[in-house]
Amino acid sequence: ARVVVLVSGGGSNLAALLAAHDDPAYGARVVGVVSDRADAGGLTGARDAGVATAVVAPADFPDRAAWDAALAKTVASFGPRWVVSAGFMRILGAPFLLRFDERVLNTHPALLPAFPGAHGVRDALAYGVRVTGCTVHLVDAGTDTGPVIAQQAVEVLDDDDEATLHERIKTVERALLVDVVGRVARHGLTIEGRRVRLGG
Ligand code: GRF
Repeated sequence: ARVVVLVSGGGSNLAALLAAHDDPAYGARVVGVVSDRADAGGLTGARDAGVATAVVAPADFPDRAAWDAALAKTVASFGPRWVVSAGFMRILGAPFLLRFDERVLNTHPALLPAFPGAHGVRDALAYGVRVTGCTVHLVDAGTDTGPVIAQQAVEVLDDDDEATLHERIKTVERALLVDVVGRVARHGLTIEGRRVRLGG
């Protein structure tokens, strides 16, 4: 299945997907990487892997809706079956979600519905939880509110700071994302209310 990955940052989740996708048995192939920032490290990783890239920067558009529509058009040009937001730090708007309805996955570094938003690791640490983790979920119109596909727990250690905890979460997160994207690509998914099952 053809997959487009959206990135804003370093792209270690993307790198993990690129390490998996050459194996035909994996079932998912990253055919394009799209970023909101020209300086995203993930773009370099994609180019090195021979994957096509595109940048759709909000500053180049008059308003949010125009940016969102351009993003949707660019992603659509790669003909993806699935879109994976992996460290993409922007909210996808209605035009985008209408076009890729129930085909957009996001990875989040907390156990949703706890600690949504841009600072999931910092917020979990500040709250004082002893267990946090990561979530792969379907994207809906809210911020990190879509139906959960898979989660994995990570323990918070006494001497953790945001960086050390995020690093440990990311190790688990990469493996979870690679697993889920492969399974979704191979088997599809079924949505009943808020409950998601892998398999068509
Ligand atoms: C991940 O933890 C993602 O969930 C969060 O930002 C991080 C992105 O890491 N929103 P990378 O760019 O894939 O290395």
